[in-house]
Amino acid sequence: MLLARFKEEVEDILSRYPVKRSALLPLLNMAQREEGFVSEPAMRDIAKVLDLTPPQVFETVTFYTMFNLKPIGKFHLQVCKSIMCALVRSDEVVKWITKKLNIAPGQTTVDNVFTLSVVECLGSCGTGPMMQVNDDYYEQLTEEKVYRVLDDLARDGDCSLKSGPYMFPLPLAKS
Ligand code: FES
Repeated sequence: MLLARFKEEVEDILSRYPVKRSALLPLLNMAQREEGFVSEPAMRDIAKVLDLTPPQVFETVTFYTMFNLKPIGKFHLQVCKSIMCALVRSDEVVKWITKKLNIAPGQTTVDNVFTLSVVECLGSCGTGPMMQVNDDYYEQLTEEKVYRVLDDLARDGDCSLKSGPYMFPLPLAKS
């Protein structure tokens, strides 16, 4: 059982919430951090710990695009398609990635390095078009920038054009 392997961390997370079910998102985040996606056994495990039903956990996982239901590549490219990014041609970003990597949204490259997703607003609306790669944001994208990011990540596992992490994992403040 996944949660049994991280007993101490699970207890730490649970201790922060007076109502157990409020710990659902942090536990899902932990499961994804460990496995790369939220598996069915992990969902059942979490449901049991939080006294929820598996469908309650499943409906939460499917509501948030940050959770993956199947294994993904080493780098998860999430391109924002919401209105502010759409106005500055986020559709072009998707086309550049598709052209370069030969994958469509929802697909992973054969070497399992990149997965492409198209998602709703990532909260960086003033600096579009933008994408999130794992925990990092890349903003004001151009064709040249996108290719540089993809090349750097494939070659070095990192790219200096990133503007930093804004989403999970949020640091847990120690009490
Ligand atoms: S519309 Fe793209 S980040 Fe908000």
